[in-house]
Amino acid sequence: MVPVLAIDGPTASGKGTVAGLVAERLGWHFLDSGAIYRVLALAAIKRGVGLTDEAALAAQASALDVAFERGAILLEGEDVSLQARREETGNSASKIAALPAVRTALLERQQAFRVAPGLVADGRDMGSVVFPGAFLKIFLTASVESRAERRYKQLIAKGSTASIDDLLRDLRERDARDTSRLVAPLRPCEDAVLLDTTTLSIDEAVHFVLNLAMQ
Ligand code: CDP
Repeated sequence: MVPVLAIDGPTASGKGTVAGLVAERLGWHFLDSGAIYRVLALAAIKRGVGLTDEAALAAQASALDVAFERGAILLEGEDVSLQARREETGNSASKIAALPAVRTALLERQQAFRVAPGLVADGRDMGSVVFPGAFLKIFLTASVESRAERRYKQLIAKGSTASIDDLLRDLRERDARDTSRLVAPLRPCEDAVLLDTTTLSIDEAVHFVLNLAMQ
């Protein structure tokens, strides 16, 4: 069986960066499951599908033409990386991610990323729902203040404008939605190792995960 390392956690916890680097060091594939939810949100907006229309969104999820190529996110062959990474897309993704039929429609698509020699999967429910048999499950978190600060620095570095207060409010709203939804609510599974990165550098977090993976 192809090994899976699951890294779950809340928004802006750094899990995407850590998961990507761990995958690179191990020479394994990488699944950014949040990007799939983001692309689905973009596709829905593009086609005028309402973000609460569960049946239409699930149908769209089943037929979604999404691909990842050399760091770019493609929707129907078009590079949508920049739009997909926007804060408002993340908020729309979090709304449609609360719909059970959407999650079910995306399940097999995510599981198909399990390809030799191994997979590092980043998301909210990688260890609990998508890959319950993962050999290592990490729940990566950090204080909401440090997550807002990290997101702020990322946005400023990209040349965007941002306000720490707005980011804090958005993060709290997204955390509340992700943890209170009825399906796959965001919480560490029983067999997950908790990693609080509030005072850790990216390198330290990567090192911690690699050490556990190689034990
Ligand atoms: O980068 P950030 O953590 O803000 O978001 P993301 O990982 O790209 O995911 C965007 C949204 O999709 C999250 O707020 C979640 O609501 C949802 N999501 C999910 O429900 N399950 C996943 N496996 C991944 C993302």
